[in-house]
Amino acid sequence: MNEIFFLAVETSCDDTSISILKAVEDGDKLKKIEALSNIVSSQTQLHAGYGGVYPFLAKREHQKNLPVVFGQAAKDFDVSKLQFIAVTHGPGLDPCLWTGINFAQELSKKYNLPLAGANHLEAHFLANLLTLGIGEDEFTNDYLPAVSLVVSGGHTLLFLAKKIGDYELLGQTLDDAAGECFDKAARILGLPYPGGPEISKHALEYVDRGKPGEVNIKLPRPMIKQKNYNFSFSGLKTAILYLHQKQTEETKKSPEYLAAMSHEIESAIVEVLVSKTKRAAIEFGARSIIIGGGVSANKILRHELEGAAAELNIKFLAPAPDLSVDNAAMAGVAGYFAWRRGQAVQNPADLTSEPNLGI
Ligand code: KG4
Ligand code: ZN
Repeated sequence: MNEIFFLAVETSCDDTSISILKAVEDGDKLKKIEALSNIVSSQTQLHAGYGGVYPFLAKREHQKNLPVVFGQAAKDFDVSKLQFIAVTHGPGLDPCLWTGINFAQELSKKYNLPLAGANHLEAHFLANLLTLGIGEDEFTNDYLPAVSLVVSGGHTLLFLAKKIGDYELLGQTLDDAAGECFDKAARILGLPYPGGPEISKHALEYVDRGKPGEVNIKLPRPMIKQKNYNFSFSGLKTAILYLHQKQTEETKKSPEYLAAMSHEIESAIVEVLVSKTKRAAIEFGARSIIIGGGVSANKILRHELEGAAAELNIKFLAPAPDLSVDNAAMAGVAGYFAWRRGQAVQNPADLTSEPNLGI
């Protein structure tokens, strides 16, 4: 058994995160990967006033937070044991990605360590390896091929994971991401940012109230009938806006309306995501459905996908809540495989930001 220690940096959006990880290898196989630390400094409150992430403000915060987060993550750890540094190089917000890359480049020079670029989308998928605490052979044999849905504030895509590192994009959003739709819908309804958990909370009230029918609300399920695996959420956002504008001021303020509207918004988004994921799992003979990204914290989405997987007699995997949001530990797992594939660079200047990187 061989132990490999490395550090990971994640700044692709509005979370500043650094993790120290340990990979245990047997020969050329990963037996287990674990995060010894995974510090996340969230900027959610800062961006709340803008109703979304404001890139240049996020960049300034990352610059301020990175040395502090590094100090916390590396506390009690002998950095001379590190063998490489992983950093998210895409996709994400360009100024934010560069902040993390520049920080990792400085560490790389200081400690003379190679740099491995981590793909943020692969990281959301591989976060499940940390949650399961299993090795690559077990993961591959028990769960792959998998149909994976990565849904967050910046991304909505469906891909087929044949092996770790071998992915085929099945479809993605043509406009807004699902999380963005939750966030924009919440803003329309006057709810705070981030919108996903807020909409979810009010939707639950609707169920708790026994689904009162006094407000007749019906929203579209965009592209649900189309045979491809693409998504579109900007039309849904517009439909929510028009429907909301039609209500009287009194209705807009009523908790019943807010609950019914939230329930319908959540149902519309979840139904589209589940329907396409399930269809893909059937078409590609998947052994599992695997989700990742901030929206995967949504309880209804988890419940419905779990049900779909059970119906198909396949497995369902979702990361632990702290690993479903942006964090450096998951970037570390993606960075570890990139490093092992020989993709790490010796010259730190060779690693650049790739804001539009795909899976
Ligand atoms: O992955 P993440 O932390 O950051 C991005 O890469 O975007 O995802 C944040 C997104 C936000 O849009 C937020 O509203 C959404 O995830 N989100 C949720 C829930 N929790 C967070 N959406 C629906 N239901 C939730 N419970
Ligand atoms: Zn993310």
